[in-house]
Amino acid sequence: MSALTFAALRKLADGRFHSGEAVARSLGRSRASLCEALKCVPELGVDIFSVPGRGYRLAQPLEFIDAAELEARLAAAGSRIRVEVADEIDSTSSRLMARAMAGAPAGTCLAAEWQSAGRGRRGRSWVSQLGGSLTFSLLWRFERGAGHLGGLSLAVGVAVARALESCGAARVQVKWPNDLVVDFRKLAGILVEMSGDLQGPSVAVIGIGVNYRLGERVLDRIDQAVVDVASCAAPVPRRTELLASLLAQLEIALVEFERGGFASFREPWRALHAYQGRAVRVMPAGEPPFDAEVRDVAPDGALVVASQGRTVALSSAEISLRTR
Ligand code: BTN
Repeated sequence: MSALTFAALRKLADGRFHSGEAVARSLGRSRASLCEALKCVPELGVDIFSVPGRGYRLAQPLEFIDAAELEARLAAAGSRIRVEVADEIDSTSSRLMARAMAGAPAGTCLAAEWQSAGRGRRGRSWVSQLGGSLTFSLLWRFERGAGHLGGLSLAVGVAVARALESCGAARVQVKWPNDLVVDFRKLAGILVEMSGDLQGPSVAVIGIGVNYRLGERVLDRIDQAVVDVASCAAPVPRRTELLASLLAQLEIALVEFERGGFASFREPWRALHAYQGRAVRVMPAGEPPFDAEVRDVAPDGALVVASQGRTVALSSAEISLRTR
C-alpha cells in the first residue's frame, strides 16, 4: 500500500462522493496516479465505488485514529503511555518486540490502521480491516522474570473487558486463556509475548486486536464465530475513544499486576469467565482433544478442569477450549 492510498482514503473518509480531479489536486498528484493508488483499496477490506461524472465514494465512512486526540486524552489522564499510529505495518507485535530488544521504554505503544500480517495465538493469523478493527501492541517491562508472570494475559483480559464495558459494550466476558467474547463469539484477542531471563528482568509485548466493525469481505476470511463492537455497544464508541480507554485500563492493570501479580485479578476474572462450570472440549495443540468440566482458575492463571475423575491444571497458551 502506498502513502498516497492512505492520504486519498482520508480525503474520502466521510463516505460521500468526491471528484477524482479534486482529490488528486488536493494531494498534488495526477488523476492517473490516484486511480492507481486506489486499486488496492479492496485488499484493505474496504469497498469503494467509482462512478463516472461523480467520482469516488466509500461504501461506508471510515474513522481513522486521531493521534492528537489520543495523545491529549492520555496526557490528561497522566499516562506514561506514548502511542505511535502507523498507517500500515506487518504486525505491531513483531515490530514492537524488535524495538523492545533495542531498548524502547515501558509504555511504548504501536497501533496500526492496517496490519498486513497480523498474528494470533497458535500460529494463526489475525485478520483485520481498515477502520474495522483496532490493532495495537503495548510494551511493558517487569522486574520479575517471565516465570513469575503467570496470569499476566488473564489480567490483561480483565482490563480489556473493563474498557469495552466502559465504552458501552454489553455482556463482554473472557474465555481462557485470553479471548474476549460476547455470547461465545469472539470480540477481541490478546497475544502476550515475553522476553528476558526467567528470574528477571523481563519485557512483555501485549498485542491486542479488537473487532470493531467487520464487513462481509473480512467476515468471509474468519473461520470462527465473531462479533464486533458496533453490534454490541450503543451508542458505538469512536475508535479513538475506545483505544484511549483500552490503554488507560491496561496501564492501571499493569501497574497493579507489577505490585501484586494475578491475585487481585483472580476473582474478577472468575466472575467474567464465560466457561465457568461448563462442559468443554479441551484442544491441546498436537495432542488428542479431551472432554472436561471447567472448575476454577489457579493462582498462577492455569485453568483448573475436571476430566475423568481427575483434576487437571491447564497452563499452556497453546490450548483452546470449545463448548460441548
Ligand atoms: C488471538 O486471539 O489469537 C490473539 C490475537 C492478537 C492480535 C493482535 S492485533 C495487534 C497485535 N499484532 C499482532 O500481530 N497480533 C496482535
